[in-house]
Amino acid sequence: MPSNNIKNIREDFDKSKINFAASPDNPLKLFDSWLNLALDIDKNNAICFVLSTVSPDSIPNSRVVLLRGLDTNGFTFYTNFNSSKAKDIELNNLVSANFFWQKLEKQVRIVGKAIKVSDNMSDNYFSSRPRSSQLGAWVSKQSSVVDLNEDFNDKKAKVENKFKGKDVERPINWGGYCIIPEKIEFWQGRPSRLHDRLLYTKLDNIWKKERLSP
Ligand SMILES: Cc1cc2nc3c(=O)[nH]c(=O)nc-3n(C[C@H](O)[C@H](O)[C@H](O)COP(=O)(O)O)c2cc1C
Repeated sequence: MPSNNIKNIREDFDKSKINFAASPDNPLKLFDSWLNLALDIDKNNAICFVLSTVSPDSIPNSRVVLLRGLDTNGFTFYTNFNSSKAKDIELNNLVSANFFWQKLEKQVRIVGKAIKVSDNMSDNYFSSRPRSSQLGAWVSKQSSVVDLNEDFNDKKAKVENKFKGKDVERPINWGGYCIIPEKIEFWQGRPSRLHDRLLYTKLDNIWKKERLSP
């Protein structure tokens, strides 16, 4: 099996370093500058992150979602409010987000509370989506079990018909969450596995900065 060789795959990291002394007091500022570097290289990859939630029976679960907003509050993504992730968040809104920008040898790990964004914000984002994605949001009961022979095109045609000649309105079970960060760790790959790690922790509304051992 080719996977027998994975133990020999190695990469030495040496693209950049973290200037600890000059790092900003607000980690969102640093995140924004790293995100911009990632966007310059590959826009589609830059906005992907792994979102981890924990279920009511303490089972962790991770999946990729897309970053659709970054502001002084935090990180916004959109989803179905009946999905597995949303059910997890309903009972425990502490989530983790992980960005890995391989070409930059950078990783960012975030822990924070996911809070639903306003209806107005979800409406605005929903209306900016392509019509086909808007229709898809009506068709998919995300994360529910469906028949093996399920044909979503039939359902899509019905929804298309329903909204013929009209704007597609946002389903009430679809919208955004903003992850309000409590911890953000920046990781920069360095030679000999002696990586740079900078951890920001929010304490009494003030960001504390610490350097971590590789
Ligand atoms: C590149 C990529 C981007 C994705 N973006 C989103 C997204 O923004 N929102 C979303 O709900 N699911 C997105 N998904 C699908 C999720 O990974 C996941 O399959 C889905 O949300 C159901 O997850 P859940 O059952 O844990 O709720 C994306 C998947 C990939 C691979």
